[in-house]
Amino acid sequence: MKILNPAMRIIFLLSVLAFGIQACTNNAKEETSLKMLQNKVDSLNLFVQKMKPGLGELMTNIQLHHEKLWFAGTGLNWKLADFEIGEIKETVDQAKEIETDRPETKSLTMLSEPINAINHDIENQDINQFKKDYGILTQTCNTCHTANHFEFNVITIPSAPTVSDQDFKTLQVR
Ligand code: HEC
Repeated sequence: MKILNPAMRIIFLLSVLAFGIQACTNNAKEETSLKMLQNKVDSLNLFVQKMKPGLGELMTNIQLHHEKLWFAGTGLNWKLADFEIGEIKETVDQAKEIETDRPETKSLTMLSEPINAINHDIENQDINQFKKDYGILTQTCNTCHTANHFEFNVITIPSAPTVSDQDFKTLQVR
């Protein structure tokens, strides 16, 4: 410091002070914007939780495609059957992905085998095997419901389509 004259010392001290103040304000600014960001993330998280379908809703979706799959298969409309089994698989995958707070979703893999078998039957256009594998798929739904205290929720082979505005038969049979 000896080499600096008093005026230079003051200038030096002032610039150190200014630098310190600048750093403090920057820190404070950063903290405020971090807090704002965190609040935004928290409210978005809450929004996503509110908007995402529950497991029961996804199951109702699976139920509809399960039913349509039966009428498409027995109507020999293999293209529609292929579409319906695809929808079931997609919804099961969605449930696995988003319903991570529901421990039951870990067991959803039990549907993979019957779904693959039905895919195979659709490819082979094998109606007898399709009916057998459809029975196995339906049993699997109930196995999980029973294992998870939803034994009162029994899935069956449908007797009539819920919707009346869709033709399930293949074009050749119509
Ligand atoms: C891995 C376990 C598991 C499998 C496999 C499973 N479910 Fe479910 N299902 C559940 C659970 C758990 C619930 C209760 C969800 C809730 O708490 O809202 C449920 C509920 C349902 C509901 C009730 C919805 C309502 O409001 O009536 C239907 C319908 C349903 N499942 C259909 C099916 C069908 C069809 C299959 C087979 C293709 C199937 N489930 C396979 C676990 C499973």
